[in-house]
Amino acid sequence: MEFSCNILNSLQNKSILITGSTGFLAKIFVEKVLRVQPNVKKLYLLIRATDSNLAKQRLHDEVLGKDLFRVLREKYGEDFESFISNKVTPLPGDVMYANMGVKNSEMLQELLNEITIIVNVAGNTKFDERYDVALDVNTFGSMNVLNFAKNCIKLEMLLHVSTAYVCGEKSGLILEKPIRMGETPNGSLDLDILQEQSIAQNKLKELETLQATKDEERSAMKELGIKRASLYGWRNTYVFTKAMAEMMIWHSRGYLPLVIVRPSVVTSTYKEPFPGWIEGTRHIDTCAVAYGTGKVTCFLGNPNFALDVIPGDMVVNAMIVAMVTHANQSSEHIYHVGSSSKNPCTPNKFADYGYHYFLINPVISKGGKPVIVTKPTMLTSLDSFGRYMRAHYILPLKVFKVVNMLCCCNYFHQTYSDMKKKISYAMYLMNLFGPYIFFKGIFEDDNTERLRIAMTSASASDAEIFYFDPKCIDWEDYSINVHLPGVVKYCLKL
Ligand SMILES: NC(=O)c1ccc[n+]([C@@H]2O[C@H](COP(=O)([O-])OP(=O)(O)OC[C@H]3O[C@@H](n4cnc5c(N)ncnc54)[C@H](OP(=O)(O)O)[C@@H]3O)[C@@H](O)[C@H]2O)c1
Repeated sequence: MEFSCNILNSLQNKSILITGSTGFLAKIFVEKVLRVQPNVKKLYLLIRATDSNLAKQRLHDEVLGKDLFRVLREKYGEDFESFISNKVTPLPGDVMYANMGVKNSEMLQELLNEITIIVNVAGNTKFDERYDVALDVNTFGSMNVLNFAKNCIKLEMLLHVSTAYVCGEKSGLILEKPIRMGETPNGSLDLDILQEQSIAQNKLKELETLQATKDEERSAMKELGIKRASLYGWRNTYVFTKAMAEMMIWHSRGYLPLVIVRPSVVTSTYKEPFPGWIEGTRHIDTCAVAYGTGKVTCFLGNPNFALDVIPGDMVVNAMIVAMVTHANQSSEHIYHVGSSSKNPCTPNKFADYGYHYFLINPVISKGGKPVIVTKPTMLTSLDSFGRYMRAHYILPLKVFKVVNMLCCCNYFHQTYSDMKKKISYAMYLMNLFGPYIFFKGIFEDDNTERLRIAMTSASASDAEIFYFDPKCIDWEDYSINVHLPGVVKYCLKL
């Protein structure tokens, strides 16, 4: 790879538009750029809001107000606000609309004249979102961003954040290759994205004719998404609509310099701005939180397959290096950012680290008592999960039912309905997360490795600032001393 640029210097005087900055990943991106390169010209943050006051408010509450910005605040002290108002412009908008919903014509003109880089991180990350909404945001929203990018006269780069799981149900080595238009994990080439849009619209009309309630409409549209995804071999609506986004933007990119970054499962920061920052409870952390709080005593995962996770700051560093390296090149690149290829760790090891962490640092329950964890049972397949549920929940549930009937009373009614809720919740989580946890593939990351090696040989200081080598991670140390304390601090709600 030709690598002639200096990453840090190249960020100077750039005008970067970022979508999704109220979310977990883009926030880390914004903080990093502002902290390492104060001479960046401007960051325009597209924020879902009806007007600029609300966008400003959300910027302050949901972005700058987070602990993530503590180091930057300390660096600037009382000049923090003026530094931010010079460098950051919140934009009310929504990627579901043309021009990303930016309505102010003066601002629109400024963006079209000034923007040099667009980083599209916005996404609807609910696995089982309504099909119409997920299509509008993830698939057609990404197209709106691409169309906007094409109209920016100084544009040097569009970086789109996808997900490694766009590959669908696969095993073996998953390559950093584009998905061909219409190609599905089932091997057919007959997916028609516009037809998918019509299917969603027709279903909505049908529900309207049937005078479905809002709740009925929501659950029917959610069901439709999952049904369409599994028909083609994707695990859920989220990855399906993200895969369609990739197909569309790749197909329609023209001569636009394009980078697609596909992270695996993003976890708390490894090092910067400080170790262990995270927001919201994500896939693997849902299990950790449930285990630490005593809600479950088992962990899921097959010891033969890697559970691919990667810290958020490494993902952001890889994004910055890729976008700067390929800026102004009329070419396109795909990067997997994960750990399963170069430094895999297995679910049972993560479970073990969780056990050791919570044994020494028990969660204190609402009642003030420590939650004592026991060594978790590892459930290594969907079948063993089913057996575990039957033995621990479904059979006792049947016993309760019989006792209730024999006693002709509702003495156990509360226990019975609590158990029913637990079972359906566990089944629901399993349906959503199971395929991730039991994923058999390994994400090849040779492009990402080449990028890293090229940066390292060009500049030792860039390599230090923009580290993203997953081989550096000691999973035991990271889990016990960084990630789990971060999850407990930022995500645990008792
Ligand atoms: N986190 C992971 O483990 C992971 C792994 C692989 C890939 N990714 C990808 O990385 C990206 C960011 O993920 P994340 O974890 O940061 O997600 P997140 O915390 O759920 O944030 C999503 C962001 O997208 C914004 N957004 C949603 N709909 C929008 C719309 N119609 N118009 C404009 N903005 C909209 C959200 O704004 P609101 O605040 O207004 O909702 C929020 O800022 C996503 O594209 C996701 O697919 C994430």
